[in-house]
Amino acid sequence: MSFTNPSGEPPRVNVHTHDSPTSGWVRRFLKLIPPGGRVLDLAAGEGRHTRLLLHQGFRVVAADRKVAELRAHFGGEPRCDIVETDLEAGAAWTLGGGFDGIVVSLYLHRALFPDLIAALAPGGVLIYETFMAGNERFGRPTNPDFLLRPNELFEVFSHDLAIVAFEQGEVTEPKPAMMERIAAVKGAAAKVP
Ligand SMILES: C[S@@+](CC[C@H](N)C(=O)[O-])C[C@H]1O[C@@H](n2cnc3c(N)ncnc32)[C@H](O)[C@@H]1O
Repeated sequence: MSFTNPSGEPPRVNVHTHDSPTSGWVRRFLKLIPPGGRVLDLAAGEGRHTRLLLHQGFRVVAADRKVAELRAHFGGEPRCDIVETDLEAGAAWTLGGGFDGIVVSLYLHRALFPDLIAALAPGGVLIYETFMAGNERFGRPTNPDFLLRPNELFEVFSHDLAIVAFEQGEVTEPKPAMMERIAAVKGAAAKVP
């Protein structure tokens, strides 16, 4: 496991995520997902990671409450299911399970944490990154509902998943922010890519 100070105050870390519009953290840990696997891009937005996943040969379920961009870009792609859903409506999880990978980037709704664990297939990989406490000084989000607490991803997911990598703290790329990131496997710990 690679680890960045999970127990103390969030450190100042420099994380190079390249100039690519996709996340370096996501790109790095996609390598853990079995080739051709089925991956959920949760709160997929305009689909920057959906596009990456498709290019890497995965089958993708891209879910968001706003799907116009997803439909425009991937509507004709047979390996991509686009699901229009309000993930915070309080309804039961509707996205199914058996995912070989789940990608969550820049989205937080804590009530979904147990669903994410349940929706992973054995050996499935969770790749999660979003803003954390302290981000307020850089800009939005500033609402604590949308900011992870220090160590939160580690504490939430380490009960049920094997943590491959965790980091938290200040990043400078693609812009200054406070971020928390985890990669974890439902099963035995994997190689660290
Ligand atoms: C900051 S964007 C991140 C998009 C994408 N994950 C990425 O990294 O590029 C947050 C996304 O969450 C979606 N979202 C916010 N609240 C939602 C909800 N209640 N149900 C479904 N999607 C939601 C928004 O529509 C938006 O696409």
